[in-house]
Amino acid sequence: MVFFIPEEKINEIKNAADIVDLISESVVLKKAGRNQIGLCPFHSEKTPSFTVSYEKQIYYCFGCGSGGNVFAFLMKKEGYSFPEAVKYLAGKYGVNIPDGAITPEQKQKISEKENILSVNKRAMIFFSKCLAESNSGKKARDYLGRRAISEETIRHFCLGYAPEGWNALINYTAKKDRHFIVLLEKAGLIIKKNGSDGFYDRFRDRIIFPIFDAGSQVIGFGGRVMDDSLPKYLNSPETVVFNKSRSLYGLNAAKSECRNTETVYIVEGYFDLISLHQHGIKNSVATLGTAITSEHVKILRGIVGKDGKFILVYDSDEAGIKAAYRSIEIFDKGYADARILVLPSGYDPDSYLVEYGSESFKKAVSGALGAVSFLINRAIKKHGLSIDGKIHIISDLKDTISSVGDNIERSLYIRELAEKTDIDESAIREKICGIKTISGSDCISVSVNERGSRLERRIIAMILQFSEIIPEIIKRGILDNFGDDLLKSLGYDIIRQYNQGNRKPNDMVFFFDDAEKNRIAASLAICEDLWDRDGCMKLVAQFEDCRERQKDTSINRIKAAEEINDNKLLLELLREKQIQARKKRSDNLNASGGETQ
Ligand code: CTP
Ligand code: MN
Repeated sequence: MVFFIPEEKINEIKNAADIVDLISESVVLKKAGRNQIGLCPFHSEKTPSFTVSYEKQIYYCFGCGSGGNVFAFLMKKEGYSFPEAVKYLAGKYGVNIPDGAITPEQKQKISEKENILSVNKRAMIFFSKCLAESNSGKKARDYLGRRAISEETIRHFCLGYAPEGWNALINYTAKKDRHFIVLLEKAGLIIKKNGSDGFYDRFRDRIIFPIFDAGSQVIGFGGRVMDDSLPKYLNSPETVVFNKSRSLYGLNAAKSECRNTETVYIVEGYFDLISLHQHGIKNSVATLGTAITSEHVKILRGIVGKDGKFILVYDSDEAGIKAAYRSIEIFDKGYADARILVLPSGYDPDSYLVEYGSESFKKAVSGALGAVSFLINRAIKKHGLSIDGKIHIISDLKDTISSVGDNIERSLYIRELAEKTDIDESAIREKICGIKTISGSDCISVSVNERGSRLERRIIAMILQFSEIIPEIIKRGILDNFGDDLLKSLGYDIIRQYNQGNRKPNDMVFFFDDAEKNRIAASLAICEDLWDRDGCMKLVAQFEDCRERQKDTSINRIKAAEEINDNKLLLELLREKQIQARKKRSDNLNASGGETQ
């Protein structure tokens, strides 16, 4: 891959960026020693093994082995290419990148996203003008008024109105510049007419809800009719900037409150969401006409933290039951505390709040149950506690309970079911454990593959963390004697970086082309070691000593003896080797704590 972004620009960005700041946007970090730790956003875990070093400006996850600097983080987290990551950080930290610094294709990809975002923003401004100013907007203003949406809420969520007719938006945005038509279509805001060249507006005579990403960029829209016509809601189609299974309505407005309260309410509707915010319950988000996905959970978990609470609020039994099943499926893997609240029949969060207010809502929330308890209650309600009912209850719940991955948790549910139904616990256990259990935990046991000898790894860690020693390493040809090829090549890469004037781990742990190298480099750079020249020289001496001993090892001579079938010599050599090994063992004991291979 060829990079057109000048090296000094990349360095400028690297110096301006702060990895702790960047990662904190999506991961809750807590101080631990000289590093910060949190729950890895790249795999499911209960205890934090995701480590970020401010000093070194790198991150590393001891659970899944992902690691690197700010660029590597963004590439992994957002799926950016390297130039996209550079561009993003340049924008964020105010570093100016000259045009032509990236290839035309890369530029096109980045600018297509940017163009769609900017078209969306333009459309949002148009819709909100139409709501505020136009005569026809009066109808929409009245509608929102009837639904008790305040002026402030309208401004806060940038609500708008898409006028009647077929081309209000086209005329507003693309009148002068036909080039806009292409972008409006890519943004899903206009639709091609059947069998003709023309286009028409997707959103017509509807209340408009702009959908923002976490960074408050407009990624799409939802639109509601103001009468009973169908469809009630219309949404933007998926575009290069809009993915429903990853987006949450209201996230930008909810983020900081979710972080503060370590709790998030998840509702289904646009109006439910803005109503919650208007009633002061700001740690709320809404899914966009889809069920909650594991991607949503991952994003939210990064915000509410590892012990964060999820409260799913639904307006019907049926939706609640579906959500309960779904949450067992996706939350079990994420180890999140998920509760389900079903509002009294006939209410959704919006109508409940409008009628009873936020205190009553919060009271209802305090009775929200975990998914399994929720299903136990439903089954009891449905079947009753007659003998026949109990049989049905067990048969309804056995699959659900047996699918709970955690043994202790499963035991607790069995006890709960026994208590609530007055069925013998061991009978339930037998019924449930007689079924093949599906493990719900997708415990990612990505053991970090340890490469090379301990000494070789220590040397790479040393040159990453204490680059002053590199000239000595070069002079002595230490890397030439490495046994592990990947570590050896990594070592040479680091030396190359060093020769180019890069001295800090942040500069040296990032290789564009090799994820495995990045991973190992980050893992070795992040260990907390205190290096000084003496300590380094000791390690170097130890390595040399070790190599020396190996070179002359008996092993080579033994091999030779084997080859020529000299049994007498072979026996002698083996005896000698035994003595050496014994000696080495006792030496090591005496040199207490010394490095051994
Ligand atoms: N939805 C959708 N398309 C539809 C119907 C619903 O995308 N045709 C999504 C919308 O995100 C909507 C949510 O599902 O907000 C919930 O739908 P519903 O309960 O029907 O509407 P409410 O949000 O309650 O809207 P309102 O109170 O205005 O009736
Ligand atoms: Mn509603």
